Amino acid sequence: MARRPMMAANWKMNKLISEAEEYVEGLLPRISDAHEGVDVAIFAPFTCLGAVARMTQDTPVLVGAQNFYYEDSGAFTGEVSAPMLKDLGAGAVVIGHSERREIFGETDEAVALKAARAVEAGLLPIICVGETKEERDAGKMWEKVGAQVRAVFEQLDAQQIGGGAIVFAYEPVWAIGTGESATPEDAQEAIGKIRDLLREIGGEDFAREVRILYGGSIKADNVDEIIAQEDVDGGLVGGASLEVDTFAKLVNGASKPRE
Ligand code: PGA
Repeated sequence: MARRPMMAANWKMNKLISEAEEYVEGLLPRISDAHEGVDVAIFAPFTCLGAVARMTQDTPVLVGAQNFYYEDSGAFTGEVSAPMLKDLGAGAVVIGHSERREIFGETDEAVALKAARAVEAGLLPIICVGETKEERDAGKMWEKVGAQVRAVFEQLDAQQIGGGAIVFAYEPVWAIGTGESATPEDAQEAIGKIRDLLREIGGEDFAREVRILYGGSIKADNVDEIIAQEDVDGGLVGGASLEVDTFAKLVNGASKPRE
C-alpha cells in the first residue's frame, strides 16, 4: 500500500489564541476536499493547542505540539508531558526540531527518549533530522543525519512499533526559514538514504511504511517537485503555513494523486 502523504503546519512561536481560531475557521472549509488524499496536521504553540484541538475535533485534521518532555509529571519546571498534551486533545508532536536541538541544546538521546515516550503514549512523533550548512559543505550530510536517525532506535524497537507509529522529517538546517529550499534531488537523496537505513534497522515492511517528510522553505512554487520524489511523503512547513491561503494551497496540491 502506498504511504499517505502528510502536509503539516509548524507554526513555531507564532499566533495568539484569537489568531489561531481565525486561522482554523478559515482553513477548514478550504481543505475539506483534500482529506481523501492527504493527512493534514497543525503543530501549534502550547497556548493555543487546546483551542485548535477543540475546533478540529470532528475533522480529520491532526493537531499536535512542537515539543514535550518524556517524564509524565514531577519537578520539571516549565515542561509539558505527554498526558498533558493528550488532555488538550493533541494526537501528535514534533520532536527534535533543529531549533530545539540548536537553540535549546536538545541531544540525540533526549530526542530518542521523547520519540519512545510519544509512541508509548499514543502520540504520533514527527522526528526531525537534518544537517547544517557547514556539515553539508564538508560532505558530512549523511554522517550527521544517519547518526540522528540511528540514535532514535536506541530507544525504539522498530519491529515492535511498526512503521505507522512514527514519522521522520528531513529538514536541512540551512534551508529552514532561509527561502533556500533543498533541490528535489537533494531532498530525495537524503530521504532515500534515511529509508535505506530504516530498512537496515527494521526490515522491508517497516521501511516501506514510515513516512518521511521534507521541511525547509517549502512554498507553493517548489512543493510539487519536492513531494513528487519517490521517497518524499509530504512536507513540514514553517513560514508558508502561517497564512491560511498559502497553507491551504499546499494541502490541496499534496492531495492530488501522485504519478
Ligand atoms: P520553514 O520551516 O518552512 O519556514 O523553512 C520549516 C520548519 O522549520 O519546520
